[in-house]
Amino acid sequence: EKGGHDYFMLKEIEEQPEALENTLRGHFSGGGIVLDEQRMTEQDLRDIDKVFVVACGTAYHSGLLAKYAIEHWCRIPVEVELASEFRYRDPVLGRDTLVVAISQSGETADTLEAVRHARTQRARVLAICNTNGAQIPRESDAVLYTHAGPEIGVAATKTFLAQITANYLVGLALAQARGTKYSDEVAREFEELAAMPQAVRQTLSTVDQVRTLGRELADSKAVLFLGRHVGYPVALEGALKLKELAYMHAEGFAAGELKHGPIALIEDRLPVVVVMPSAKGRALLHSKMLSNIREIQARGARTIVIAEEGDEAVRPFADELIEIPAVATLLQPLVSTVPLQVLAAEIARARGYDVDKPRNLAKSVTVE
Ligand code: F6R
Repeated sequence: EKGGHDYFMLKEIEEQPEALENTLRGHFSGGGIVLDEQRMTEQDLRDIDKVFVVACGTAYHSGLLAKYAIEHWCRIPVEVELASEFRYRDPVLGRDTLVVAISQSGETADTLEAVRHARTQRARVLAICNTNGAQIPRESDAVLYTHAGPEIGVAATKTFLAQITANYLVGLALAQARGTKYSDEVAREFEELAAMPQAVRQTLSTVDQVRTLGRELADSKAVLFLGRHVGYPVALEGALKLKELAYMHAEGFAAGELKHGPIALIEDRLPVVVVMPSAKGRALLHSKMLSNIREIQARGARTIVIAEEGDEAVRPFADELIEIPAVATLLQPLVSTVPLQVLAAEIARARGYDVDKPRNLAKSVTVE
């Protein structure tokens, strides 16, 4: 069943290229991006002037990435909010607001209640979901299904990468409806997405290196994760995976926040995982991140760096270097997340825990 793997999660991590292929399939035709269900008009879509993304846990981390893409492509303000907070603070919603609800199961109570609240305020709701006909898509005005296939491991892996992909498809659909991108530009962006399954496949060649590293880190007290820009949600996700699977203290930070507090946590041999921005695409962020790594290394941290192949500048500062393929900036999370998933699973296994069934957690959380 586990296809020769020690645990389902590893099998599901390795299924990510297919999960992305299946999520992309059928969502692009000559005319552009196609949703699975649309019970709102093209005019409704064109009129959207504000987007809220609501979700929980890992789905929320994918939602943070939606903001970078949608604001960049559509020039509409996007707010990303934990579904459990959303309806309790009287958010400003109206007919021209789009609420994007992201949920693997489609049954998460907090997300469902956020959707219901949005609808009472006459906002439009678009669901991104991995489960056909679940409650959240049933109560939404439009649906885009991720086709990651069933996920057995309680920790979300392939559905996270599929959600990121789906978010980008929604961003392109909105850009196309609003005319902020011409159809040839949408087609080009889609082609870049279509190249990602292969890039993820390439990233899987790091699995053995990361599993060995995981065993070495099993006795650590804590692990910190740093990222900038789209690397920041990846850092949050890496920390969440480690908490839920290895029951270890883990925190993700925006690297720019280091000197505003978290740097006080750095002590000798503390493992710090750094998600390096692209050297070419994001030269300024790259150099800022280099100085962050220097700072933490000077304070004794053990630096574990996820960086693009060919990033020579970072080499001297990496106690462990994990190389990922160079891809477009917005797409980097699809590859940089993979080693973090493996790391969490392997640390958990080395500590003797059941990677597929972490304590106290359920696959679908149907109570608020
Ligand atoms: C983490 C994880 C959870 C879920 C969250 C939302 O690995 O699996 O954080 O992401 O409970 O679940 P869905 O996507 O079903 O709404």
